Amino acid sequence: MSSFNIAVIKGDGIGPEIVTEAEKVLNAVGKKYGHEFNYTDILMGGCSIDKYGVPLTDEALAIANASDAVLLGAVGGKVGESKWYELPANLRPEAGLLAIRKGMGLFCNLRPAKLFPQLRQACPLKESIIGDKGFDFVVVRELTGGVYFGPRKTEVVDGIRKATDTMPYDENEIKRIVKSAFEIAMKRGKKLASVDKANVLDTSRLWRQIVSEVAADYPEVTVENVLVDNCAMQLVKNPLQFDVIVTENMFGDILTDEASEVTGSIGMLSSASLGSTYHGDKQLGLYEPSHGSAPDIAGKNLANPLATILSAAMMLKYSFNLEKEAQAIEDAVNKVLDDGYRTGDIILASEDASKFKKVGTKEMGDAVAANI
Ligand code: IPM
Ligand code: MG
Repeated sequence: MSSFNIAVIKGDGIGPEIVTEAEKVLNAVGKKYGHEFNYTDILMGGCSIDKYGVPLTDEALAIANASDAVLLGAVGGKVGESKWYELPANLRPEAGLLAIRKGMGLFCNLRPAKLFPQLRQACPLKESIIGDKGFDFVVVRELTGGVYFGPRKTEVVDGIRKATDTMPYDENEIKRIVKSAFEIAMKRGKKLASVDKANVLDTSRLWRQIVSEVAADYPEVTVENVLVDNCAMQLVKNPLQFDVIVTENMFGDILTDEASEVTGSIGMLSSASLGSTYHGDKQLGLYEPSHGSAPDIAGKNLANPLATILSAAMMLKYSFNLEKEAQAIEDAVNKVLDDGYRTGDIILASEDASKFKKVGTKEMGDAVAANI
């Protein structure tokens, strides 16, 4: 029996509920395929602030780094309403997220955007745009550099309040994320769109140069440079043109929200964040749904656990090399969708709800686990 150590961050809001369902599904996989998944809970975000006064302790980070992978629900509360947001920015829940990304060296963030055939109705784009096939692409977002981590200051200059953020990138930071994207493109449709703002930014001009240098090692991959504003437009105009998109941290933040919205089902989208740390043949990574902590529906058994369950599938595939087990989770999710199981978020107001089996968080987890 092989065994895997998973650090679990349930986090805030709906985090604990959705992670519990992902663990349920992992346990079903363990039972069927003979693996043991050991979970160690650590705190991050608001729950860590409440207990320790900081969003991520050094001890929690050390446990994350010592694990084979981290499974994360969601962190944070309602900005403006939660007491956590009266704290300085570096002590708020989201700071824990940035600290764990940096502290685990997770520079490569994969955010798949895929139209589930069963949920086509939820896609806000016209039939003429999404076609018969729908779309299926992945955004590779640089996650530990750029303006998120560059030098910054807030000051008063000659009586005028002034704030400055900077966006530094060195060639090594660019090269490693671009290489990761080419590797992923090689395993997919061999088509890479590199997104930048090379008509304005120096960092983007360096980015573009590195892309063309790395491209020489991947002659099979078709590369296109796309300006970020144009990319934002193309995502709604013709998302089918994309296979793999690679971009810097903040562009990636913005484009991935847009990408998730065009699928119409953010409750379904998983993500993986990887670095270059291996424990044996296991690649350390952090896996989380693309959506947030949804504090308004927390604790009500309403949240959709599928994005977290699919993130657990990414964990099996990328960190543990358990391809067939990952596929078993994806197949089980497809099966429950085919069977008509839906949480409230994936039933449209315009649809006839009686066609579906409307279920809560727990029942959705049970249904997926039963199909493993
Ligand atoms: C994301 C989020 C975070 C980010 C926030 C919560 C700091 O928007 O993961 O996309 O900007 O990276
Ligand atoms: Mg974001």
